[in-house]
Amino acid sequence: MPQFHDYFNDGPVKWTSKHLLGLEYLTAEEITLLLDQAVEFKRLAANGNSKLNLLKGVVVGNLFFEPSTRTRTSFGLAAKRLSADTVDFSPSGSSLSKGESFLDTARNLEAMGVTLMVVRHKTPGAPDFLSQRIEAGVLNAGDGTHEHPTQGLLDLMTMREQFGQMQGRTVALVGDIRHSRVARSNIWGLKKLGAHVIVCGPATLIPPEIEKLGVEVSHDLDDIIPRIDCINLLRIQFERQRGAFFPSIDEYAHLFGMNGQRLEQARKNIVILAPGPINRGVELTPDVADGEHSVILEQVSNGLAVRMASLYLLYRRQLELRGEQ
Ligand code: CP
Repeated sequence: MPQFHDYFNDGPVKWTSKHLLGLEYLTAEEITLLLDQAVEFKRLAANGNSKLNLLKGVVVGNLFFEPSTRTRTSFGLAAKRLSADTVDFSPSGSSLSKGESFLDTARNLEAMGVTLMVVRHKTPGAPDFLSQRIEAGVLNAGDGTHEHPTQGLLDLMTMREQFGQMQGRTVALVGDIRHSRVARSNIWGLKKLGAHVIVCGPATLIPPEIEKLGVEVSHDLDDIIPRIDCINLLRIQFERQRGAFFPSIDEYAHLFGMNGQRLEQARKNIVILAPGPINRGVELTPDVADGEHSVILEQVSNGLAVRMASLYLLYRRQLELRGEQ
């Protein structure tokens, strides 16, 4: 095992969470600790130490009740990089079709030895519901419109790499704020780390009273472009919308899409993020997605380190609660 900085034992604060349910429930110091641990895992991998023995014998369950490419793959790879065994669960082909409940499904996986459960579900609060009824540590991989904490963390890690720290930076979250769990996790995380957050989109896609979270609201992307350090382009969540929230995709792209013309009005070092999956030509044009300001693929790489850090810290806390360290 190579030498590494173990933030569980030697962080500026003590890691005490058994579950990772949302950034709303972590302090700035805990978020920073988790990000620092992720940076450490990324450093180890860059130095050729991509396989670590830290979770040997642990079984990680990946329970995805909604589709996923990035989150599912990177949690699976993160578990393998830490030498854990993994169990993948998808609803199709499972006994859910015979009437087995969500909770019974989780309890059966737990009976097979799963002690860390990664859960994506369309219902807000589903991971929290499980965390109160099973012994395993629960990691929220996205629950409806509520939170997607590891996406928020990987976005923060990517922005922090660009800026050093987030204090005093201005970040715009643009698009479908109303249906976006990524928006909520970004708002909690960015505010706690001292950033100024602007949410921008059509009035129909901004939840009422969102100002109470301490964010600025804008409906005019061209107005805010010149004063932002960073823009996070959120996907239009067609699958969660139950009505027409804007007249047409073309009109949305015209008013809120990031393109070359808007880039010319932006600060010269603007950083462009998108959590993915991206709709090229809707939230951003292909030249912007693949251009020099885009850190979209760095986000994906950092997701692996963030998920390793999340699994590691929760596992260490479990050992501590069981009196095994
Ligand atoms: N950003 C994100 O959560 O992507 P997936 O839906 O592919 O996991």
